[in-house]
Amino acid sequence: MPVPHIYMDYNATTPLREEVKAAIIEDFETFGNASSMHADGRRAHARVEEARQAVGELLGCPAGTVIFTSGGSESNNTVFQTMRRLGSDAHGKVLSRGRTGIIITAIEHPCVLNSADYLKSLGFPVTFLPVDEYGKIGLDDLKAALNEDTLFVSVMMANNEIGTIQDIAAIARVVKDAGAYLHSDAVQSVGKIPVNVEDLGVDYLTMSAHKIYGPKGIGALYVRSGAPLFPLIHGGHQEDGFRAGTYNNIGILGLGKAAVLARQHLAEYMEEMRALRVRLRDGLLANIPDIKINGHPDDVLPNTLNVSFPGAEGESILLALDLSGVEVSTGSACASGSLEPSHVLLAMGVGPELAHGSIRFSMGWGLRREDIDYIIKTLPPIIARFRAMSTVQAAPRKVGV
Ligand SMILES: Cc1ncc(COP(=O)(O)O)c(C=O)c1O
Repeated sequence: MPVPHIYMDYNATTPLREEVKAAIIEDFETFGNASSMHADGRRAHARVEEARQAVGELLGCPAGTVIFTSGGSESNNTVFQTMRRLGSDAHGKVLSRGRTGIIITAIEHPCVLNSADYLKSLGFPVTFLPVDEYGKIGLDDLKAALNEDTLFVSVMMANNEIGTIQDIAAIARVVKDAGAYLHSDAVQSVGKIPVNVEDLGVDYLTMSAHKIYGPKGIGALYVRSGAPLFPLIHGGHQEDGFRAGTYNNIGILGLGKAAVLARQHLAEYMEEMRALRVRLRDGLLANIPDIKINGHPDDVLPNTLNVSFPGAEGESILLALDLSGVEVSTGSACASGSLEPSHVLLAMGVGPELAHGSIRFSMGWGLRREDIDYIIKTLPPIIARFRAMSTVQAAPRKVGV
């Protein structure tokens, strides 16, 4: 039987939607510099502003509060660098009095974790909020961490590994009461669940095109009108001076098209993904003994299922599934050469061994019920084989044979 190709790593990235691809190809003719005043420039500028409007409509905000960036990492870094400026004196030294405190969660994406670590190394007081067994932060923990010196709180809306969704609106009320700024990394939420910045009450929100069937290397940052912002990239006057560099027309147009489609198809997407997720979850629970589903049972992304397989190792499962034509991911940072267990699962209290045996299935457009059924059929013998091997390995060695 030919090996199928089943992509189940949509939280890592998504393929371009056909409509996005077609819009980009059509737009290759619009080569003008969007900052030029002549007709070609004006044409390019109009496309950029159309895309900004589409992103604003997707996020529920005026187009003028959307800044284009190179993606989620840059949007997040821009916010952290803004906070660095606000909390430093004219010589770049952390203020000795006033608001400098930074609060993030222990389960943020590395681009937030490492930004916070960087500010910590400069002397900013940083608090890492714990999460419960489902990956949720507690409002009481947040209230206890906030004080009159808190400058800024960053809480991701949905986690990329386990899919747990935080109650950002409730968090925003607490943060506002304390007079601090709130940022949310919504890279994994936009296009998967409703995201409306007004309802959420955030000051800053990050999104990325390649998670919503748009191109890589382009994203956006929502900045509430009146919230401070300092540029990360200095140069020309693009984006009102907040993000210099010649406009990435093709990327921006692709993001705009992806935003229109994400908004149009959100309800349908959520229903379809929920059905696939439940089918996979129930199929795995029925066919593989002793597995553990990680993440919140209800407040979870419709497309994300994280599963621990005790007695089997995540990277081995990933490779075996890959040989069978199924592409998934593990939580550990193997791509960077480290096999540390997922910081997200560890923060939730999952033991290192179980965390090592975890797989993230993330679903998206194009995945069919037959694909889910193929995995439900293919995975049980793989897990049984690894478990048998680990039992043999764990058996005490006989001396002298
Ligand atoms: C939660 C989260 N934040 C930020 C990023 C980074 O986004 P980008 O790849 O656009 O830099 C990712 C990408 O995996 C993510 O999942």
